[in-house]
Order: sequence, then structure tokens, then C-alpha cells
Amino acid sequence: MSDKTASNAMWGGRFAAGPDAIMEAINASIGFDRRLARQDIAGSQAHAAMLAATGIIEGSDAQAIREGLLTVLSEIEAGDFAFSTALEDIHMNVEARLKEVIGEPAGRLHTARSRNDQVAVDFRLWVREQCDAVDAALAGLMRALVAQADAGADWVMPGFTHLQVAQPVTWGHHMLAYVEMLARDRGRFADARRRMNVSPLGAAALAGTSFAIDRHMTASALGFDAPMGNSLDAVSDRDFALEFLAAASIGAMHLSRLAEELVIWSSAQFRFVRMSDRWSTGSSIMPQKRNPDAAELIRAKIGRIFGANVALMTVMKGLPLTYSKDMQEDKEQVFDAADNYMLALAAMTGMVGDMTANREVLRAAAATGFSTATDLADWLVRALGLPFREAHHVTGALVALAEAQGCDLPDLTLAQMQGVHAGITAAVFDVLGVENSVASRMSYGGTAPAQVRAQVARWQEALG
Ligand code: ARG
Repeated sequence: MSDKTASNAMWGGRFAAGPDAIMEAINASIGFDRRLARQDIAGSQAHAAMLAATGIIEGSDAQAIREGLLTVLSEIEAGDFAFSTALEDIHMNVEARLKEVIGEPAGRLHTARSRNDQVAVDFRLWVREQCDAVDAALAGLMRALVAQADAGADWVMPGFTHLQVAQPVTWGHHMLAYVEMLARDRGRFADARRRMNVSPLGAAALAGTSFAIDRHMTASALGFDAPMGNSLDAVSDRDFALEFLAAASIGAMHLSRLAEELVIWSSAQFRFVRMSDRWSTGSSIMPQKRNPDAAELIRAKIGRIFGANVALMTVMKGLPLTYSKDMQEDKEQVFDAADNYMLALAAMTGMVGDMTANREVLRAAAATGFSTATDLADWLVRALGLPFREAHHVTGALVALAEAQGCDLPDLTLAQMQGVHAGITAAVFDVLGVENSVASRMSYGGTAPAQVRAQVARWQEALG
């Protein structure tokens, strides 16, 4: 098979000479599509069983094929398989080895089938498995975040807009914000999985086949809900891969945002969290350093994952129906994105599970930046009946006064406050504390510890 001058064993009938070495290099996908071996053999098993059930091949041939494929699979899984570039891809590598193992019946396997529907089914099965793996990994990360939220349902920290202190919030509330995002990510993968779970097998090269195959049988043997309804679409569709990449892009973007917060929070300037030793790295020159490398790398992973999405979209745009070899470029993008997304999820789960919030620092930071100014304005509305716009104005004047005095809002005296608005009473001080501030935000989905606890309970129930 490595003889470059021999014509190809699979289609050699029409060719006198083998491919140029560079042709072989650009054409071969075995370097990466060997990852589809298990799915390829599963597809072949389903196909062979169906060919026998419909009387297209003899039961004895199907039996030989079935056993031979099991042998090939065990060789591949044991690392005993000699992959050949001359055989181009996983489909032809498996079939050629099957021929060596069982002889003539191997040649009957490709009846009523093409590599076009074969690769479409293999890759679909692979991506479907990844959806399940991603779903489990997302659930694991959600559990780690819910555990953080449970521990710190009432730990007060600053909430930010524009990365400026805005209003006090709770640690648990902040953790659960990511849980919500990850739940949507799971929904996107589940949705994509549902849509991709239809079988292209039996579409053959593009037009279907003249053999009386049973596509429903192969579809159900492979766990698909139904055969795809149009053979041209079946061999040319890569939406399932694109939907996976799109969902992974959004999911990786979420991880990147959380990673960015961990990078900021673990800095000496913030000290909101301490990453465990297991999730920190040192510097070869600066002995004091604890670098959040894993968080930084997770932050960066979105680049290649989103890149894969753009790359495959670009491959697919403008391709005429049906299969074109361009589509072979789908796999490396998806493999790389899936591997890196799974790695990022595992690393994030480890970091979140191991990190320690610095409660005192969070509490102190929450009280800076006039974070209870909104509570003050709300109090002016509630207690004194001011229109909100006027209350906003009065509060602005009080903030300016505190700023000029170099103090925080609760440090102003009642007399100073009354100098700005005569109606203010001592009761105002109740709303200026950060604990009272968060406790008052009892609106559904708000940051009050009672609300956070209710949400924690909901997620614990949902995540089992
Ligand atoms: N290795 C090919 C791919 O990944 C398999 C399909 C080849 N089909 C063909 N008509 N050359 O797309």
C-alpha cells in the first residue's frame, strides 16, 4: 500500500498510476480521522446487519464482517493497528484491514453505501457523544459553583458595572449568575443534539441507492431518531458540527468571562479570592508570585474555539451540493475545539472547587465607592415621599459632600445630611450598611441572601 506507483486498491480500476506524494499528503485525513474509528466500525456493523436482514448480502458474509470488524476494533483500541496514509482515511483503513482479516466478504460491506454517507454518520456520532460529554462537564462545573454559592449565600461583596463599584451584592448571587449561563449552554447543546440525531446512513454517494435498504433499521441501531429525509442534504450537511462549535463558542465565552474575574480577583490589588496551590503557578524569577495561569489559558481558549467556528463556517459557505472534499476540513476544527473546551471545563471546575473567597476583603470592598447610594435614594423616596429623580439629585449632593470630606456615606453626621435635605432623619443610617442593603433586595432573582438560598435550593434539586 505504501508503493506510490501502484494505483489505489479501492478505485484502481480507472487509474494506471498512484498519486503524487504531495497529492497523498494533502488528500489524506487518516492523521486525524482515526479518532472516528469506533464510530466508523459502529456504522459498518449497523450497515452490515441491515444488508443481511434485507437479504442484500448473505447472513454468513454479514457474520464474517461482524466478527472481522470486532477484530479490527480491538486492534485499533490496543494500539496494534498500522494506519496507512496511502489508504487516505479511516474508512478505507478499516475496510482494507477487514479484507486482510476475513477476505472476500469484506468487499460486500460497501454495498449500498459511500464514504460520503459513511463519514457523515461517523462524524455525527462523534459530535453527539461530545454533546453528552460536554453536558456532564457543564453539570460538574455548575455543581462546583452552586457549592460556592451555598457557602457564601450571605457574604457581601461589591457588585460592579463598568468595573466600578455599583451596589453591594452577595458572593452566592455572583456565583449563581454563572450557573444560569452554564444552564443555557447545556440547553444549547441539548437542542443541537436533538436536531443532529438523525441518520445520514443510506444516502450513499448522494442520490440514495437502488438496493432495497432499510434506513430506519440502521438509524435505530445507531440510536438516531430517524433517517434524514433527503439524501442530498444528508451527505452535504455539517450543521451539526457548526451548531456544536457555535454552542462551544458561547460556552467558552462564558468560561472566559469567569476566568477574567478570577484573574482580577486573585490579584494583589483585589485579593477577593485565593486560588489553591494546585491551581496556581510560580515564577522562575519572582518568588512571591502566584500566577493564575489556568484562568488565563481558559480566558484564551475562546480564541481557538471561536476560530474553529469561523473556519468551518468559511469552509461551508458557497459549497455547492453535495459533498466536496473541502468538507474533510471539518474534523480537525471540531476535534480541537472539543478537546480544548473540555479541558477548559475541567480546569475551571477544579479551580472553582478549590478557591477560597476572602470574606473580609469582599466585605470591606463592598462598603467602598458609595455603594449604598442607591439605597439612600430609595429611602428618600420611601420615607420622605420624594420623586425618584429628586432623591437621585439629593443623594448625588450627599455623595459629593462625603467625597469632599474624604469619608463614606455612613460616616456623614445627621446634621451634615440635614444640611443637604432637612427632612432626613436618623433612620436613614439603617439603609446605609451593606448587610441591610443586600438583605433589602428581596425582589425575585435579587441579591438578598434569602433569595440566593432559594435559588441554591432550586439548583441543588435540578443538579441532583
Ligand atoms: N475523508 C473524507 C472526509 O473526511 C471521507 C469522505 C470522502 N469522500 C469522497 N467522495 N472522497 O470527508
